[in-house]
Parts: sequence; structure tokens; C-alpha cells
Amino acid sequence: MVFAIDGPAGAGKSSVARAVAAELGFTYLDSGAMYRCVALAALEAGVDVDDGAALGPLAAALEIELDGRHVMLGARDVSTPIRGREVTAAASHVSVHPQVREAMVARQRQLIAAGDYVAEGRDIGTVVAPQAELKIFLTAEAAERARRRAAELGADAATVLAEQTMRDERDSAREHSPLRPAPGAVTLDTSGLDVEQVVERIAALAGASL
Ligand code: DC
Repeated sequence: MVFAIDGPAGAGKSSVARAVAAELGFTYLDSGAMYRCVALAALEAGVDVDDGAALGPLAAALEIELDGRHVMLGARDVSTPIRGREVTAAASHVSVHPQVREAMVARQRQLIAAGDYVAEGRDIGTVVAPQAELKIFLTAEAAERARRRAAELGADAATVLAEQTMRDERDSAREHSPLRPAPGAVTLDTSGLDVEQVVERIAALAGASL
């Protein structure tokens, strides 16, 4: 069984998806972490993050393991380095390329076929698992999303907002798998709600789909 949670950066997807997975006893899948791994590997290998033809084979060859807590790239724990600002910006570039998306989507489908998952990202309900039993589109006002991210990172909210706006535009305007609510998705605006309140609402919706 799959529950899909999609939405823009800072909508609270990670904390919410993690908590919903824990509550249901499902496995949490952070698909963004996989695109972040491609970005980190590209930066380290000196591969241009806008060169889809070069990124495709690089992405397909990566050994990415996620257990819901740690992100492993080969034998290396990259949970922290993939959250850096440079990798965050690069992830939004590498994820534009269909060659990269194909490799990641294939992995994600393999994973979710093998168990019960709460999968979180941008295209879970639209592309990775359109058959998902429950699809949620999580969103929040841009300024609030930036405030949350800034607090998490200990960064300046205005800078985070500017970077977030560029990422939102790239994620939504890209040709392949742009960010948008899947048909049948329930849209939840988390502005003014805390994680517990959002989890409660999703758990109620999930309960109805179990
Ligand atoms: O959710 P996140 O911030 O960790 O995602 C990092 C980048 O990866 C972001 O720019 C959007 C992209 N992404 C994507 O294109 N498709 C997904 N399913 C998940 C993330």
C-alpha cells in the first residue's frame, strides 16, 4: 500500500510523512533525498548539473540506500552533506532532466512495490505511484514555508525565500514531471497548522483508505 505526499519545499512534507509512516507502521520514503544524492555526486565528480546526457548514466550508477533515517551513497552516510545549500540548489537543477528522473523513478517504484510506504516528493502521486491509495498535496504560504526552512537551517528568512522562489518556479515550470497536484489528490494547506495537526488530518484520511 502507498500513501503519496507531494508538495513544494517547506510545506512540511518530511516531518509529516515521517510521522504518518511511524503512526501507520509504514516505511518512509524521502524521494527528494535521492535527487540530492545525484546532485552531490555530480558536484563531486565535476559533472555539469545542467547536462542531462552526462547526468543520466551517473544517476543510474549510484548506489543509494535509504532506511528512513540515514541516506547512504555507496558506503558513505551523506545524510548531512545532502542538506547543504549548494546541494539543495543543485538538486533542483539535476531533477529537471528526464534521464535522471527515469533512473530515480525506477528505483522508487522498486522500493514501494516491496512494502507499505508513505512516499514523499513532487511526483509521487502523478508519476511514481498514480495508483496510490491516498494522495495528499501539502502546501503552505510561501513566506511561511521560508520561515520554517530558515528556522531549521538557522538562516536568514529573506534569503531562504528568494532561493525557495527560484526552486518553486523550476520545480513547477519544468517540462518533465512538474510539481502539481495529482488527479484525486487531497490538498492540505498547512499554513498556521503544526505538524501534529496535519498528521492528525492525514491519519484520519488514511484510516478511511485502509
Ligand atoms: O524535497 P527536497 O527539497 O529534498 O527535494 C530536493 C529537490 O529534488 C527539489 O528541487 C525537487 C526535486 N524533487 C523532484 O524533482 N522530485 C521528487 N519526487 C522529489 C524531489
